[in-house]
Amino acid sequence: MASASIKDVAAAAGVSVGTVSNVLNRPAAVRPTTRAKVETAIARLGFVPNASARQLAAGRSDTLAYLVLDASNPFFTDVTRGIEEVAKTEHLSLFLCNSDLDADREDQYLEQLTQLRVRGVLITAMDYANPRLTRLREQGVPVVLVDRAPQDGHDWCTVGVDDVSGGELAISHLLESGHRKIAFIGGPLEIPQVTDRLTGARRAMETAGLSADDLSLIQTDALTIADGRRAGERLLGLPRSGRPTSVFCANDLLALGLLQHLVQLGVRVPDDVAIVGYDDIEYAAAAAVPLTTVAQPRQLLGRTAARLLMDEAERGDDHHHEHVVFQPELVARASSAAVRRTA
Ligand code: RIB
Repeated sequence: MASASIKDVAAAAGVSVGTVSNVLNRPAAVRPTTRAKVETAIARLGFVPNASARQLAAGRSDTLAYLVLDASNPFFTDVTRGIEEVAKTEHLSLFLCNSDLDADREDQYLEQLTQLRVRGVLITAMDYANPRLTRLREQGVPVVLVDRAPQDGHDWCTVGVDDVSGGELAISHLLESGHRKIAFIGGPLEIPQVTDRLTGARRAMETAGLSADDLSLIQTDALTIADGRRAGERLLGLPRSGRPTSVFCANDLLALGLLQHLVQLGVRVPDDVAIVGYDDIEYAAAAAVPLTTVAQPRQLLGRTAARLLMDEAERGDDHHHEHVVFQPELVARASSAAVRRTA
């Protein structure tokens, strides 16, 4: 049976289609007695409003979209919570899209979001130079880059964290604990967040009078717990004489996978290998050996990006793009407890 239309509801309630539309969109503008008749007809006919048609008629969508790199990473869950807080106050829905570090999938989502004419797109992108991002803006869809510092030559707001400073914080912490044989675990190096953290790590080595090349590099294919476990196998495969006594991981999932592998093999953390992560997701503090990490203000990132997006969506040409950069903070826990070493 075809679903009831707005015309069926109007006929059943004895009112115009416009009155039914008012009941759906501006109920306070309709007399209570009339509103009750329409609501009774809607319930009796089982009418379901067509949100797409309504939004098309209104000329603008009631939906925001956030396109993330890896939906299984709690970092993005926390950023999304911040975005949702703003979407809720604006009575908007939020589409969460996951590229899973796949550039083709990111393209497909950007194409779909362009066709959907969503109110605005927030993105932590695989490729910030993706021409589909520019095309979205050319279609009048505001775009805000999340978790990314300013991009030269691009005309949009950005909200990010100073990941270079974050890398410096991590390595300085290990150096101050007496470590000199330090490894960086992270990848792919195409992800700007990873390369910025590595840049900061190398800079901290040089600031301490060491060579950046003294920092060992264990590259991973992605930033997952499984990648962290595999990196642990490679770390323990190094000759004991040259094996790093401390590791800075590009994010907490890598660090938790490394921690799991080392603990399973009876390697003591931090006494044999100290570990520092990045993000301060909820599981960092809850780990078997609470994880030292570099904290990012995750929900604040999401709230700030969403507010910038709404400002642009509401004010159009009167909106002025902003580039917000938050500073990370080191959260020292047991996984790198300062152990004075001669190493
Ligand atoms: O998405 C990869 C990583 O970059 C996340 O863990 C988070 O640190 C982001 O900044």
